[in-house]
Amino acid sequence: MATSDAALLQQLDKLSAPELRRLLAEHLTHRKLGLTWERDAIAHDRALNADVVLPRVVPEWSHTPEGCTAHRNLVIEGDNFDSLRLLRSTHAGKVRVIYIDPPYNTGNKDWVYNDNYVGANDRWRHSQWLEFLYQRLSLARELLTADGVILVSINDENRSRLELLMDEVFPGRRLGSLVWRTKDTGNDLTQRFSHVHEHVLVYGNSGFAFNGRATDRSKFRNPDKDERGDWSPQPLTKAHDYTVRENTYYPIQDPDTGYWYPCDPDSVWRFASEEVIRRLANGDEAAVQAALAALRSDTMEALIAKRLIYFPPCKVEDVMIFDTKADLLAAIAAGKGPMLPKKKTPLLRADLPDIDFWVGKPIAPGRPSRKEHWTAKPEAERLAPVSSWIAGMNEDSNDEDVDLVLLRSARGGVATEEIKNVLGSKAFPYPKPLSLIKGLLSQATRPSDIVLDFFAGSGTTGQAVLELNAEDGGQRRFILCSSTEATTKEPDKNLCRDVCAERLRRVIAGYGGKPGYTLAQSGEFAYLQLDKLDGADVALDATAQHAATLLSMRNAGVAPVKTAQAAIQVIAKGADWLLVLCTHTGADVLSALQAMPTQHSVARLVVVAPRPKAVALWLAERGIEAQALSLRDVLTQGQGDKKARNKG
Ligand SMILES: C[S@@+](CC[C@H](N)C(=O)[O-])C[C@H]1O[C@@H](n2cnc3c(N)ncnc32)[C@H](O)[C@@H]1O
Repeated sequence: MATSDAALLQQLDKLSAPELRRLLAEHLTHRKLGLTWERDAIAHDRALNADVVLPRVVPEWSHTPEGCTAHRNLVIEGDNFDSLRLLRSTHAGKVRVIYIDPPYNTGNKDWVYNDNYVGANDRWRHSQWLEFLYQRLSLARELLTADGVILVSINDENRSRLELLMDEVFPGRRLGSLVWRTKDTGNDLTQRFSHVHEHVLVYGNSGFAFNGRATDRSKFRNPDKDERGDWSPQPLTKAHDYTVRENTYYPIQDPDTGYWYPCDPDSVWRFASEEVIRRLANGDEAAVQAALAALRSDTMEALIAKRLIYFPPCKVEDVMIFDTKADLLAAIAAGKGPMLPKKKTPLLRADLPDIDFWVGKPIAPGRPSRKEHWTAKPEAERLAPVSSWIAGMNEDSNDEDVDLVLLRSARGGVATEEIKNVLGSKAFPYPKPLSLIKGLLSQATRPSDIVLDFFAGSGTTGQAVLELNAEDGGQRRFILCSSTEATTKEPDKNLCRDVCAERLRRVIAGYGGKPGYTLAQSGEFAYLQLDKLDGADVALDATAQHAATLLSMRNAGVAPVKTAQAAIQVIAKGADWLLVLCTHTGADVLSALQAMPTQHSVARLVVVAPRPKAVALWLAERGIEAQALSLRDVLTQGQGDKKARNKG
């Protein structure tokens, strides 16, 4: 029995019978639907502390091309609990898209809790993992914009646990999930299943929508001079065999030319035929009317009458006519009968029930399609991406997919090669394919969004953001949080610096014949390390650099390229205001402040300083409009520091 269980029983022994009854009733009625994990039994996550996290730019590990005056992209080194606390104080409500690929808790020691790898036999393995993620997801939730979304990769084994946890942290925000295929092959019989798929869970705030696909105007044309205007061809078939869809397997005829079009026996028409319905009803008019009333769309005859079926023009010499059944069967046997134009699979076969019908009929070579007119389609109409499979890069999309927005991803193994191409070695185990993250971001982001990945690993998300920006001229920014993965065995390991940041540096410079990224294409980043200070001493121990970086991230959304040690620094400028940081309030600082509104042509100052009331009074007496904020409050705002948290 665990010590905590014994202690609990001892406590219960002390209770009277009525107290125990009340407790039991409370316990039974307070149970709720959802996930519970052994929060009280597991050791406290040591990352969770009450100190204040302050950022420090490391210029030598940042990427600062000429002309870069401030960093819009951030790489933050450290435990992501600390990074998220910092971001909560600088980016609350500002991040539109979060993508994470957390450690999956496979039992193969793939993640660290309190400096120890968590293995398969750890009794509290699942609870520690859930608690670890719960703490981080709860912070991340506060960063999302009102129309923000979080996308989380997970394997099949841990999906159910994570999904319930996500429901707990993001109640009512579940939008669905995507499945992608990680491998092409899998034949390990020892596992019963060959695991070749993973999931991406999607939780979005109420304003979120995927971009979908705008209906492309260029696909609408008017080859037959239709007076209703431009139209786009839509597929007329459905992937059902003629044996299971008897009533949608029938020949159709172009009323203008008299040419016939066979139905593909493997992909029947999408629309029912009144003639076929009548034939199958055997003269029962009530059954015919009932069948017609149950249709959700026009019959083929009605579509043809409304001229909504397009029969492609063809040359007379390409029209086939078989005078006898023997001729027809001989042509089929020789592979010279009517064929699907692209796939070249036969449309007529000797075993088909209507084979006799085709003797003597003029059979046209092309395939008819359904016309969708531009005027019938609201311009704002969008197609949403489909859940279920994200198709493989190497999979053919069939005709059916024309109406779908299908994401595509390479298999997992490709991702290892992608890193090798950049860094020259397989520097990181199990990265995600670029195409997977790019596909997700192209659907979830708008061109100026902030994208956060707080389990950034090798930095795939950063490369995906750069590539997307280059493709569509966007200005998306990335914030990547990566741990060093240093342990007592490998104290000098720094994954964040040597893999994540290094990968981005090389991608930005251009590698393997690929062009790099200019500053205008977001080809830069700040490398931040985190310093943790005791809340009580923060005003004393924080440097001007800490304060300037924090304020600049919070108020201007950027990290400074250089931070001066000066006692007075301009952090941001608005239309009529200037944000100024003062690390002390000596006479020199005060008189410099007094001159600032005129120097910078602004009406008022926002001053962050150690003695705000005195500063405000001093400036007011000299006719300067100023709002003064306490340096300590500003440094601790939104952080784990209890005093600051109580203040809200
Ligand atoms: C599955 S990998 C992410 C891979 C990434 N998607 C890529 O394509 O490279 C998970 C990463 O989370 C990191 N990680 C685990 N615990 C962390 C923590 N507390 N803070 C920051 N990173 C952490 C691990 O070091 C690992 O690099």
